[in-house]
Amino acid sequence: MVSAPSSAPRPDSALVFPQDFLWGSATASYQIEGAAAEDGRTPSIWDTFSRTPGRVRNGDTGDIATDHYHRWREDVALMAELGLGAYRFSLAWTRIQPTGRGPAVQRGLDFYRQLVDELLEKGIQPVATLYHWDLPQELEDAGGWPERSTAERFAEYAALAADALGDRVKTWTTLNEPWCSAFLGYGSGVHAPGRTDPVAALRAAHHLNLGHGLAVEALRGALPSDARCSVTLNIHHVRPLTGSDADADAVRRIDALANRVFTGPMLQGAYPEDLLKDTAALTDWSFVRDGDLARINQPLDFLGVNYYTPTVVSAADGTGTHTADGHGNSPYSPWPGADDVAFHQPPGERTAMGWAIDASGLYDLLHRLAANFPGTPMVITENGAAFDDYADPDGRVNDPARIAYVRDHLAAVHRAIGDGVDVRGYFLWSLLDNFEWSHGYSKRFGAVYVDYPTGRRIPKASARWYAEVARTGVLPG
Ligand code: NOJ
Repeated sequence: MVSAPSSAPRPDSALVFPQDFLWGSATASYQIEGAAAEDGRTPSIWDTFSRTPGRVRNGDTGDIATDHYHRWREDVALMAELGLGAYRFSLAWTRIQPTGRGPAVQRGLDFYRQLVDELLEKGIQPVATLYHWDLPQELEDAGGWPERSTAERFAEYAALAADALGDRVKTWTTLNEPWCSAFLGYGSGVHAPGRTDPVAALRAAHHLNLGHGLAVEALRGALPSDARCSVTLNIHHVRPLTGSDADADAVRRIDALANRVFTGPMLQGAYPEDLLKDTAALTDWSFVRDGDLARINQPLDFLGVNYYTPTVVSAADGTGTHTADGHGNSPYSPWPGADDVAFHQPPGERTAMGWAIDASGLYDLLHRLAANFPGTPMVITENGAAFDDYADPDGRVNDPARIAYVRDHLAAVHRAIGDGVDVRGYFLWSLLDNFEWSHGYSKRFGAVYVDYPTGRRIPKASARWYAEVARTGVLPG
């Protein structure tokens, strides 16, 4: 399994991370748990979506996933072997509140209590995300994130979770990548609930923002004073194709829709003027009520940053596509003006997702965030890569491309820290191969290989490599 510590002398080119840097790995409930109908759990929008023919590759669903709901003890043992200091996971809302309303289900809470107790027992810090995309289906039936009531229900759920787990879990994240929930869920429809309504996407963005603010209030009210509250955003690192003014404007437009629509209210207390102007033909934003922005703009203990690849845009010139990966509908279409932007594939190597490998994007992004939001510590809450991994006849999984990817991105983080950027930790996506949303099980992001027919776990070469980095805090040269 994971190799013994090496006592080899450290080469000069090795990069030493700060002593208290947090080394972790991340997962999400729907992607790993399975047990979709056990112990009172009811369908979320992802159960409905994945059971709808044509939505997910191969018709895959999260019904069994990696069977973590039954194998959690084995999975925590794997984390301990990997020398992880922290584990980021999400709570399945419908295990705790099956209808999205009302009292908590004890069995649902018990699952997370025992998981957290096992983590603490092994010296692994739990980092709980309240929402990683599995909205109770009943709340979607009542209108979903485009409706204000969903934000209010989310805050009630946050309070229940904090009351039940706050004695054990000190670090909390409200939302994971609300951009995906709003723009892929209600804009392009490639994610659950699969709606394609541009106004609904903007309304969803606001009510996710509001849900975040109300949830932080609820968490602060229920948690001890040393608890940490955060949000995880997939801030797009948007680059222009050329130095033209038109391309600079395309960057501005996508930066507003993808990033500042969240960072504006959450971190600065206002929606950006240019965003309101760009979207004026669609909506007057009258769903934003007096007092909302103050409630959204909560002090945070850190900002969670997910980074995989940069985004390259230009003014539409007939050569690019309407989506970053060239598939599906545009998250921003049919929007007046947004169709004027084209996305481009940067040259060079790609992962199995087709995403360009470019660690300089992470370095630049960290600098940009440090400049825009001074005094806000950051944690890389996700970074990693899918490759076409397979177990060889000896049962080994060799994944040198993943090691190279993670090494380069960690080197970028190290360099940013050396420049004075406040980055406190790194969570590898993902601990296990898992359900990669509309790609089903076809994409493998894990440090640990999952043989789906049997559920067997096989740590990949990258798991052994990452274990050594996490144990020593040193990135080998
Ligand atoms: C971000 C999401 O949070 C996670 O659920 C997903 O699997 C990874 N990106 C890879 O696409």
